[in-house]
Amino acid sequence: MLSRQVVEKLKQHETPFYFYDMDLLRQTLDSVVWAAAKYNFKIHYAIKANYDPRILQVIKEYGLGIDCASGNEVRCAIEAGFDPKSIVYAGVGKRDKEIRYAIEQGIFAINCESLQELEVIDGIAAEMGKVVDCGLRVNPDIDPKTNHCIDTGQADSKFGISYEKVLEQAEWIQSLKHVNIKGMHLHIGSQIRELHVFQYLCDKVNVITDNLVRKGFKLDFVDVGGGLGINYDMPENEPVPNFASVFAIINGNLKVGNREIHFEFGRSIVGECGELITSVLYRKDTATGRRLVIVDASMTELIRPMLYGSYHDIENLTSTAEKHEKYAIVGTACESTDVFNESVTLPKTVRGDILTIKSAGAYGMSMASRYNQHDLPGAVYSDDIK
Ligand code: LLP
Repeated sequence: MLSRQVVEKLKQHETPFYFYDMDLLRQTLDSVVWAAAKYNFKIHYAIKANYDPRILQVIKEYGLGIDCASGNEVRCAIEAGFDPKSIVYAGVGKRDKEIRYAIEQGIFAINCESLQELEVIDGIAAEMGKVVDCGLRVNPDIDPKTNHCIDTGQADSKFGISYEKVLEQAEWIQSLKHVNIKGMHLHIGSQIRELHVFQYLCDKVNVITDNLVRKGFKLDFVDVGGGLGINYDMPENEPVPNFASVFAIINGNLKVGNREIHFEFGRSIVGECGELITSVLYRKDTATGRRLVIVDASMTELIRPMLYGSYHDIENLTSTAEKHEKYAIVGTACESTDVFNESVTLPKTVRGDILTIKSAGAYGMSMASRYNQHDLPGAVYSDDIK
């Protein structure tokens, strides 16, 4: 972890803040771009994972497109200078004004998540005198073997249109005059570590595309979503995720034909390059023997442990004590669930020590809130402190 090497410099900044290792971000992008080029796969960055403008600029330099989940995300990508033709936009609840904006910008595809949404898009496009390129987000009914809070591709999920419905309504969908179904989209979940899940995905996609083509759809692209996980347990062992393996699985199992294959990676691009740096405010023990370390960050900076029970490795960057103790690391927010880790062993930790909460580059800052009127955390970039 870079924070360990530059801790003296980090001490000059007011905590809590996100610290980004920009070289690790570049290494990760080098890896994904190199591995994708082998198969001519198209990569979109799922901007919801982190909107930081400096991060977006680096991602843009590497030529990735963007995957969005709201009209404001589309706007953010366009304002950051991404080509609208590299932007895809999914989301179960697109508002009319968001649809209108995406159509005006001429993005690559709006990925539609219900039959009713298709009808609404058709109506809005008709008013605007346009024909809109869309993808059908199909729910493939796959268990991605991840935390249930972040799976999205099982039959009862709110995401996507059921495959049966698409087949049933194929004729109606193709009769819409202002919607051009250009491709198919799927996203089965996030933090997928069992890579054979991507093989099941290919098997399903092959059946679905064959049947859709039989029903008359001309699918120019298949967007298989994101989801590749990172190593939260031992980030130092695997700072850059294994993109090459996922691509080899997809290339080896998907009937690609002439179709463009797209991916939408969020966590795997930015997850490991970010750390949340926080200071210890207090130490106290409860009557029941809970040994609390109270830090100046909270669920308002990083909500993943509280929302999903997610694990983030925590290290004390400044203690030199030989003695180690078990602590519950808790935050400042007025919520009992505001606990980063209930039981972590650290060198003896005291007021003023600086801790790093690792692997926090994805869904950290982008999910920050101002609960309790907390300030939003700042950011420190390795490029500026070396
Ligand atoms: N594409 C779509 C349609 C998505 O819904 C998502 C994530 C992605 C791509 C990017 O997935 P990734 O490559 O990052 O796994 N806040 C949760 C994760 C929510 C993911 C939402 N969708 C967390 O902190 O784990």
